[in-house]
Amino acid sequence: MGSRRRCRPSFLCKLVAFALCCSCCFGGECPADGRMWVPFGNSCYHFVHGEEEDVFKSYSIERAKDLCHGYGLLTVNSKEENMFVIKYSSEVWKGNRNVWLGIYYDSESEELVWQTEEHLDFTNWGKYSDDLVSMDTCGALNASSGMWDLVSCEETSENGVVCETLQEPEKPKKSNSWLLSALVILSVVVILGISAVIWFMQQRHSFGPVLFTAFEYHPPFRALSPDEACLMEVEETGPLP
Ligand SMILES: *[C@@H]1O[C@H](CO)[C@@H](O)[C@H](O)[C@H]1NC(C)=O
Repeated sequence: MGSRRRCRPSFLCKLVAFALCCSCCFGGECPADGRMWVPFGNSCYHFVHGEEEDVFKSYSIERAKDLCHGYGLLTVNSKEENMFVIKYSSEVWKGNRNVWLGIYYDSESEELVWQTEEHLDFTNWGKYSDDLVSMDTCGALNASSGMWDLVSCEETSENGVVCETLQEPEKPKKSNSWLLSALVILSVVVILGISAVIWFMQQRHSFGPVLFTAFEYHPPFRALSPDEACLMEVEETGPLP
């Protein structure tokens, strides 16, 4: 009895952990478009042709954008993100790569901005001078050194393309997974309740007849001599589990 009781909480814990794990796994995350997306921070990254042994192909920035199928080009907002790109590039690509950055020249503010309309708070320019910046200025990240270069949008082609998109914490999905967890926990409680009832009934079944006989058959025994009645009682209660 005791061991059975002790066993149940761990089983319950496992189920709850499983439910919580599921809610994490299904919590939005990276695009499921059949391509390999790598999560890092709040974003997902697709290293184009990263999984293939491709020879160095070069792509214009327009072609690079096309390859991203509507997702943005790489934006780098921190040293850690820059490091991640360097590290992951060396894992998926052989040799030197220069990766297109999702930067453009905004003629209104007359400065370089990210395609996501964010300011360039973090930068890692090798050589940078405002004089070099014009309408035709784009950026590329040297995936070996991690340094950024100002390049001509029109005339340059780069051999590295990384697409980036924000991870989706999709609210409906999340509430769905919480619903899933709640359902799992609820069913565990129901199963526990049912098994408790079954256990209780089993206990009643094994005790029941004894109690029953004790009450039903005692009165006739009382008529017997006290010694015999005593013997009968010992026989009845003796083989109890
Ligand atoms: C990128 O960096 C590596 C290592 O610092 C260097 O050898 C290479 O020439 C750089 N590539 C470009 C295009 O600057």
